Order: sequence, then C-alpha cells, then structure tokens
Amino acid sequence: MSQFIPYGKQFIDEKDIEAVETVLKSDWLTTGPKVDEFENTISKYVGCKYATVVNSGTSALDLAVHALKLKNGLEIITTPFTFAATSNSIIYNNLIPVFADIKEDTRNIDPEDIKRKITDKTVAIIYMDYAGHPCDIKEIKEIADENDLFLIEDASHAIGSEYNNKKIGNYADMTIFSFHPVKNITTGEGGAVVTNNTQFDKDLKMLRNHGIDQDLHQRQSKMDYMYDIKELGRNYRITDFQCALGISQLKKLDSFISKREKLANLYSKLLENIDFVETPVNYGNIKNSWHIYTILLKKGVNRNNFFKYMKKSNIGVNVHYIPIYRFSYYKNHYNIDPVDYPVTEKVFNDIITLPLYPQLKTEQIEYICDKIRDYNTVKGEKL
Ligand SMILES: Cc1ncc(COP(=O)(O)O)c(C=O)c1O
Repeated sequence: MSQFIPYGKQFIDEKDIEAVETVLKSDWLTTGPKVDEFENTISKYVGCKYATVVNSGTSALDLAVHALKLKNGLEIITTPFTFAATSNSIIYNNLIPVFADIKEDTRNIDPEDIKRKITDKTVAIIYMDYAGHPCDIKEIKEIADENDLFLIEDASHAIGSEYNNKKIGNYADMTIFSFHPVKNITTGEGGAVVTNNTQFDKDLKMLRNHGIDQDLHQRQSKMDYMYDIKELGRNYRITDFQCALGISQLKKLDSFISKREKLANLYSKLLENIDFVETPVNYGNIKNSWHIYTILLKKGVNRNNFFKYMKKSNIGVNVHYIPIYRFSYYKNHYNIDPVDYPVTEKVFNDIITLPLYPQLKTEQIEYICDKIRDYNTVKGEKL
C-alpha cells in the first residue's frame, strides 16, 4: 500500500464546514451563543447536569484540579500510563502526583495499587479510561468513599463510553473530555469538564475566564463596567466556531463509535490466530468507544523492531504511552523507580497502537493484519 496510513485522523464533512462558516459570518466569534449550545448538547448527550467547554483537554484537567481548591503539597494518585497532561494538571496546582501501577488487560489504573499508595496526604484520584475502556469505577469509587477522596475522571479517550449502562461523565466528581483531532470528536483543539455538582460548575466557568465573577452576557445586559476577580483563573475560553464544529461532530459521535467498534472487531478477528499477538479485552459491563486499538506483542517479539517494520510498510503505528515517570522532568523532580511499576513497564515494552479511525477501510485493516502475520517470516526474527 503506497499511501501512509496514520494511527488516527479526524472526520470532517460538509455539515461541519457549514456550521463553522455560519459562525464566522456571525457577530460572535467567542463567548457567544454557540458556547452555551455546545455545553447543553454535551450535558444532554452524557446525561449529566453541567458541562464547561474550554480550549483543550489539558485546560479541562487543570481547571478540574483547581476547582477542588486543595492546599499545596497534598497528593493525588493517578496512572503513569497516560498522556503527560493527566499528571501535569496535578503539578500545575502545586500538588504532588503519586503513581499507581496498571492492569495488563485494560491498561487502566489498578485499584489494588491505589489502596497501597494512599497516605494521610492523599486527597484525590485521577483515573483515565485507557483507549476508551472504562476503569474499574465501582472499586475506585469504593476506595474514594472509604478514604474521603475526590475523583476526577480523565475521559479524554472515552466520550460515549459506558459503564454499567450509564455514560462516562456521571461517575466522578468531575470528568474531562478532549476534542483534539485524533480523539473521537474534534473541535481542532478543545475540551470539556462535566459534572453533576453545581458549585464545581460555577467555579469551573469562573476559572476558565480569569476568575471573573460574572459572565460577559451578564455584564453587557447590566451595562456595567464593574466585575471582581475572586480566584486566579486563566483564559481557557474556546471560540464559538470551534463550538459550532463540536455541536456538529457530536451528532455523529454514535456513528463514529459504531464504525470504530466494527473495525476493532475486524482487527481482533483477523489477528486471532497470530500467536505472538494479544488483542485488547472488552468486558461485559462496559461500552468501549474505541479511541485507539492496541495490541501486546508476545513470544519475545521486539516492539521497537516491529515498530520500524510497520513504519517501513507505511503503517502509522504509535506507542501509547511512554510511562510518565520516564520523562526527564519527572525524573528530575520526583524520586520514582520504574521497578515499582512492573506491569506498566511490561505493557510499555510490549504495546503498539494500530491505526483506527472511522474512515479506515476494511482493505487497509486486511493489509495491516497481513503485514503483522508476515512479520516473523519477513524479519526472520526468532519467535
Ligand atoms: C489521556 C489524555 N489526557 C489528556 C489529554 C490532553 O488533551 P488535549 O490534547 O486536548 O490537551 C490527552 C490528549 O492527548 C490524553 O490522551
């Protein structure tokens, strides 16, 4: 196949373009009606009370941690097997990230290791639904209840996923989504925090706009110049044209997810008999939104050689994730020994992400799986 197949890709149609164009021709480019409309559409889709939309998933995480109003130096337990934004959000707020190991089957945080990591400084848990497969939410909630901890769910991968027949966004105190182009829906850059808590919602909306105590519409209608800054907020506002794109994309989310699911099932079927490949699990009490499709390479296959081989075949494989504690910043600031994370290390060594996005074709998946099957013969690598 001569054309490069990326690991992820947005799906934008004429309706999306029209929606953006309409806003560009209107009076409101930012802080206008599309912001409220996008928030209402998200909360309706998720089935929760409130949504606050912002300019990235990273901003959403930062605001969610900020809204907990915690004292400096306290600890938040999270997964090391995520994108750095998850744990960076803890550090932005002068708190300390404490990592718990993961489970090999789902690559999600291990509730048993969370229990071991709790100290008298622990105040919250940020769990991340890897690849769109929800975490062990019941077990995590029990730990949080017993220890009086806040819960933030990083559902950057998991908008549209379900746990026990309820959409993700209804379990943690606050749940965040990312709308980066490789995610299941996109606004270019963008994110959201959803919650059922009225006070958190109020604070999130204030914090995304510099900590100003009134929204722009209130000020305009009162024709008053006065406002107060109650907290040290940020400018994390998202534009109206991005929100228009988000509204249009959200209408397609369920169909995107069913396409992803079909393609993921096709991968699992075609890879079933390759003895050095372990395909991802999908447990019964969840609905997976299939943000990414990852396999584990077994029988001594070297992931880095396999990665090069796939790239040479024009297949855009990726690695999700390099464990956070391996990055220089974390090494220089926190005393973390990879040996303490045996499952994370093992999964990191064996994992590879295969391309997955709604417009990926059956023939492309067949080509990818043929290449995988050929790997041992082509490379002559001992399996
Ligand atoms: C798990 C996870 N958390 C947070 C983020 C940050 O989202 P954004 O890129 O929208 O800032 C990402 C995006 O890559 C992610 O995958």
